[in-house]
Amino acid sequence: MPDIGQLAVEKLTTRQAEAELERLAAEIAAHDRRYYQEDAPSVSDAIYDALRKRNEAIERRFPQLIRPDSPSRRVGAAPAQKFAKVRHSVPMLSLGNAFSDDEIAEFVERVRRFLRFTPDQKIVFTAEPKIDGLSCTLRYEQGRLTRGATRGDGMEGEDVTANVRTLADIPKQLRGKAPEVCEVRGEVYMTKSAFLALNERQKAAGKQIFANPRNSAAGSLRQLDPAITAERPLGFFAYSWGETSEMPAQSQSGMVKWFGQRGFKTNPLMKLCSSVEAMLAFHHDIEAQRGTLDYDIDGVVYKVDRLDWQQRLGFKSRDPRWAIAHKFPAEKATTVIKAIDIQVGRTGAITPIARLEPVTVGGVVVSNATLHNEDEIERLGVRVGDTVTVQRAGDVIPQVLGVVADKPRGAKPYRIPKTCPCPLKTAIVREAIAGGEEGARSRCTGEFACPFQRIEHLRHFVSRRAFDIEGLGEKQIALFFEQGWVKEPAEIFTLEQRNSKIRLEEHEGFGETSVRNLFSAINARRKISLERFIYSLGMRHVGETTARELARGYGTWDAFHQACVQIAAGNGETRTEMDNLDQIGDTVIDSIAAYFGEEHNRHIVERLKAQVDILPAERPASDSPVVGKTIVFTGALEKMTRDEAKAMAERLGAHVAGSVSKKTDYVVAGPGAGSKLAKAKGAGVQVLTEDEWFALVGEQR
Ligand code: IVH
Repeated sequence: MPDIGQLAVEKLTTRQAEAELERLAAEIAAHDRRYYQEDAPSVSDAIYDALRKRNEAIERRFPQLIRPDSPSRRVGAAPAQKFAKVRHSVPMLSLGNAFSDDEIAEFVERVRRFLRFTPDQKIVFTAEPKIDGLSCTLRYEQGRLTRGATRGDGMEGEDVTANVRTLADIPKQLRGKAPEVCEVRGEVYMTKSAFLALNERQKAAGKQIFANPRNSAAGSLRQLDPAITAERPLGFFAYSWGETSEMPAQSQSGMVKWFGQRGFKTNPLMKLCSSVEAMLAFHHDIEAQRGTLDYDIDGVVYKVDRLDWQQRLGFKSRDPRWAIAHKFPAEKATTVIKAIDIQVGRTGAITPIARLEPVTVGGVVVSNATLHNEDEIERLGVRVGDTVTVQRAGDVIPQVLGVVADKPRGAKPYRIPKTCPCPLKTAIVREAIAGGEEGARSRCTGEFACPFQRIEHLRHFVSRRAFDIEGLGEKQIALFFEQGWVKEPAEIFTLEQRNSKIRLEEHEGFGETSVRNLFSAINARRKISLERFIYSLGMRHVGETTARELARGYGTWDAFHQACVQIAAGNGETRTEMDNLDQIGDTVIDSIAAYFGEEHNRHIVERLKAQVDILPAERPASDSPVVGKTIVFTGALEKMTRDEAKAMAERLGAHVAGSVSKKTDYVVAGPGAGSKLAKAKGAGVQVLTEDEWFALVGEQR
């Protein structure tokens, strides 16, 4: 049998071509992964280019065989399908829990007995908040961050190196002198304020709403696309360690201090306690502060301070004998589910909501709780009529924790209806959420036909980050929609004209003045920035940041609009161009293509466009020598941070890309630049040192 890989393209049969395209897709993807994600290419550029050329040649001859995952359809590596597994060289263990003061006294007693200490032997414990996030281990070799992994089952976690690198609290290089190997462990968390803001943004973009800061931290860290993690405000507190080639301190508190000196954030509330009374007072004190802290905690942790004693105490199954978690009682209550309703979001996402017999939880009356999605309902097994436990844990949306046993049960299991509750009764389908482990969700397929989605679109359109029209909030737009006065965004701008018929001022809640003010607020918005305009369309996956990138990338509405229409029509080159923009990938492009692929949407946009003036994106310095150029920064920059470099280039009108491609104009390489530099040289891209870059743009450093 001939080796198909050796056959000339002209000689291939259709079957052989199909097999060969499959092989090439896999091989090129593997090279891309090594090149882009691991920064460790295993073939020369020439071999790599030959593979790509062969792929293209076969595709030219057999266009009907072009694969959806063809290398010609994308630049760089697709995000990993799953995370690689990492075996922890020192297991990541959990903690025993205690709830009562007595249990803490018993814990201290156990420690004393185990160490055969007399009652007057002083034992010092560290006491610190127990952060409600997810634990993570960071491996440093010669002071450089080489790997980040989640805890997983304690023995084996997931490799989230690319993701942890995006966290500002995690140094990529340890400060000062570092041991050869050292693994720093701690908790990744999201602050409560960041969590609320993230949910706002997610909601506005029609994306997943998180139940609490811990879930959102976990969901954000475990993103297959690290660019998404980078957008999420995650923090990290260092409190423990794994494998270390030398111990820089002899006590728990000394180690934590050392982490601080090496550039980590450590929890400022940590204290030393040398008696049970002091430990309980600490617990009490932290519980009182709990509501004022900007991160969720679920208790405190006590640890024997001396490491030689920790060593002697060792572990009992999976928990250390030298530490214990003293948990806080959660803010919970029990009540009855009266009904389960569904809410339809802007993009059709269905969220089941439990309507509850009102109950006070932690001082707040709760009558609704989210059930998130169908999987959650199934997991909890809740039915209408069940008595359930509800929790308000630092988050605003109370959640149902589970069914209370020994109480009368509801009669039948709940199923998400097959049709939308709107009068049109459009179909509801179940679909997987792309890009992560965030489960499946049901979605109404009605799009603009579904009045629920329409109204959500209009709400989004007038929201603060979109058109933000004073006097036209959620309530007013809902009223206008229900009355049939405004069915789509363009109609907001024709309201004034039509008001001789509508006579808004004669409706409750409106007067002459407020109507006049409303029209002038609407008119004031006839000039709108490109980024707001793009964002206001409410395309899935096009949040504020993405809209800004697109606006910057295209500059004008006409350029952007033309690209969208072309991409929707299947133009691969235009697609690649968009893909080359920073932070824009397949998910966003697919969503834009889907949106502009719908004639109905194109008309909506057209009619809206006719009403407004879309201002070109603020084009940074148009006279700079790098306007419109694509720059790649690589290696260790010495005179500026990566973020500074990026901001500077963008200010000067350049695009900054993460990888070298045909479109790259300059590669600015610092010391230690590796494969990107090699690739740039191979491709004949101009390479600059940092100083040459400054000289080029005429700035001094
Ligand atoms: S020490 C061997 N300290 O709690 C002991 N854990 O329930 C290692 N956690 O998996 C853990 N805050 O995710 C420690 N200050 C803290 C903590 C903490 C939160 C988490 C951690 C651990 C879990 C155990």
